Order: sequence, then C-alpha cells, then structure tokens
Amino acid sequence: MRATRTQVAIVGAGPAGLLLAHLLHRSGIESVVVDNRTYEQIAGTVRAGILEADSVRLLVDSGVSGRVLTDGYRHDGVVLRFDGVNHRIDFQELVGASVWLYPQTEVFIDLAGRRGVDGGDVRYGVADTAVEISGDRPTVTCTDSDGRAGRIEADLLVGADGSRSICRHAFPPGAREEWFREYPFAWFGFLTEAPRSHPELIYTRSEHGFALISQRTPTVQRMYFQCKPTERLADWDDDRIWAEMRRRVNGNGFVLREGPISAKSVLPFRSFVTAPMRYDRLLLAGDAAHTVPPTGAKGLNLALADAAVLAEVIVDYYAEGDADVLDRYTERVKERVWRAQHFCYWLTTMLHAVAGASPFDIERQRGELALITGSRYGAAYFAEAYTGWRQSRSV
Ligand code: PHB
Repeated sequence: MRATRTQVAIVGAGPAGLLLAHLLHRSGIESVVVDNRTYEQIAGTVRAGILEADSVRLLVDSGVSGRVLTDGYRHDGVVLRFDGVNHRIDFQELVGASVWLYPQTEVFIDLAGRRGVDGGDVRYGVADTAVEISGDRPTVTCTDSDGRAGRIEADLLVGADGSRSICRHAFPPGAREEWFREYPFAWFGFLTEAPRSHPELIYTRSEHGFALISQRTPTVQRMYFQCKPTERLADWDDDRIWAEMRRRVNGNGFVLREGPISAKSVLPFRSFVTAPMRYDRLLLAGDAAHTVPPTGAKGLNLALADAAVLAEVIVDYYAEGDADVLDRYTERVKERVWRAQHFCYWLTTMLHAVAGASPFDIERQRGELALITGSRYGAAYFAEAYTGWRQSRSV
C-alpha cells in the first residue's frame, strides 16, 4: 500500500482538476490528482473548442501556457444561419470582445505539461477509485497504474471527475439539491479532413434540424448535426453524413467543403446543476457539479472559472483556518453557473427542431432569431453571453 498525505486530493485530471492543482501550487498548497483515464485517453478525446477571453487570460496570466495565443485562432464573431441566410454577430463591434478556438485537448496538454514541469503529483490510469469523507480526513483509495494499492489522505477533497462523478455521490442524502432538464435530441459530432467552409463558426437552424460548422485547423474541421439521442454511429457512413449536412446548411451560394470523416460520436444533451457544491471538506468543480448542452460552448469555460474561484477559496480556508469559509465557493460561482445554464438552454431551444412543434412554435422561433440578428441590442445580448460576461478587453 502506498500511503500519501497531502493538502488537497483531486479526483479528475481534466481541465478543472489540473487548473486547480496548478493554481494551488502557485499559492504554495500541494495536491495529488488521480484519474482513471490514461494521459493518452484524455488527450485523445475530442471535446469542445471555444474559450472565452477570461479563460484565455487565466491560462496565460497564471503561467499555464501562452500557446493558446500562438496556436489558437481568435474569432471576433459567429454566424447565425436560418432560412438559408447568414447573419454575422460581430463581437468586437458589439461588446469589444473575442473568443478563441482552442480545443479542450490542447488545454489539457498545456495543463498536464505545466504540472509535469512543476513536479506535480498527477496519477493517470488508476483503477477502483473510492472516496471516503466520514473519517478524520477525506481519503481517496485507488489502484495505481503499476497495480499498487494507494491511499491518499488530505485536508480537502475535490471532485472534478466529470458528469458521472463518484465524488458527487459521496454527499450524504439530502445534503444537496439537483436541478436538471433532458432534451429530446443529441448532437452527432465528427472531424473531417477538409479546408474551412467559412472563416468563423456557423450555427444553423433549418427545418431538418440544427447543424454547427466549427473548425480545428486549416485542414481539419469539426462539425455537428442534431440527431436522436438513440442514434447509432454504425448507421452513418460518410455519404449519409454529408447528405444530411448539405440539406441543413447548403444553399444561397453557401457550399460545404467536404472530406473524409473520423472521430464520430453522439453527444448527450443535458442541463444539470447541483448545489451546494460543498459538503464538509468535499467540494465539486466543473461537470461534476453542472453540465450544459454544448450549444453555447460554455462547459469548459465554466470548469476553468470554477477552478479559479475554488483555488482562491481554498487559499482563504488555509489562511483563516475555518471550514465555513468553503461555503463562499458556491456563493461565488452560482450566478455564473445559472447564467450559463440559461444561455445554453435558450440557444438550444432557439436553434433546434423539435418533433411535433406547432406552426406557432416554429414562427415564434423565427421571430426570436430575427430579434437577435435584427436588433443591435438583441445581437449585443447574444455577443456578451457568448464571449463571457466579465470579459477582458486586453487579450
Ligand atoms: C467545437 O468546436 O467543438 C464546438 C464549438 C462551439 C460549440 C460546441 C462545440 O458550441
């Protein structure tokens, strides 16, 4: 048995867990991070790709990496496309902000690399992870990747272990509330080897359903289309996927650039929040505490913002020596979480086709899109939410 005593044990080596470990390290607080996925599994999972200006600033200013500024792509607007017409929302002109296209896998590689350079204890590929919070100190037990049993004792335990969090389930019954909403659709996501179809992202509403044209590099693109939650990957070969994409987005002179397809996946769609995010010395961060539908590109940004606030609260906890300080965490993040919940829900319902929608519902949806694209204030509302509410104008 390998026993370790640390200050903060973190379950989950995704962006929330690793950024927290990094920020704590900068304040002289040590941590151990465990994850049941290997480094290669985490780095190889295709996730979302949009960073708000504040997320970029956090990564650059805290010394994680400046690579987002050199290898990422700054986007000063997006396109909302409906009834076959593109409507550009100009972020810079409306709210003086931008977002960065920089995939989550790159954020992970930067964070993991920084932890490596700083000598951080991050254990990938562990098995049988279990957490216990009833004793003197929270503990994490797991089998390390070399097969040895490990036990980590800590002052605090952080569950940054994603939407299927084991840490969330360690809260005693009644210690937290849950709010959630299911949607009758999912996204079918894929990568394609093709040139960019457009310089910016295009969110499309069509009578055949939603589609999103996103990007990765000048030669690799990421795209999604609305599908049934039960959709089977095996039923979709390249020809069928392109036929579906074409009928949703092509027209009026716009033509998709097509190529070979890889990394197909069906993304679940769920809005979920639990609070409080703290019980005793256990805290939750990122998807473990809240998930949003991917439409507003907020999940990764919320996870990074949680980690930044939680690091500050943990520093205060050590300075003041009072566990009740930890309640400040939920207080400080909950407004951002619910604003993002609203934005992702709103954008989802505005752009997706719902089976059985009445003619009234459909025309009302068009009216809503016209309100956003046809009014400076409507467009600014969207632009502020998409780029992040407390955006920095300097990056
Ligand atoms: C992506 O590039 O993967 C992406 C972009 C915007 C979204 C969701 C996903 O809203």
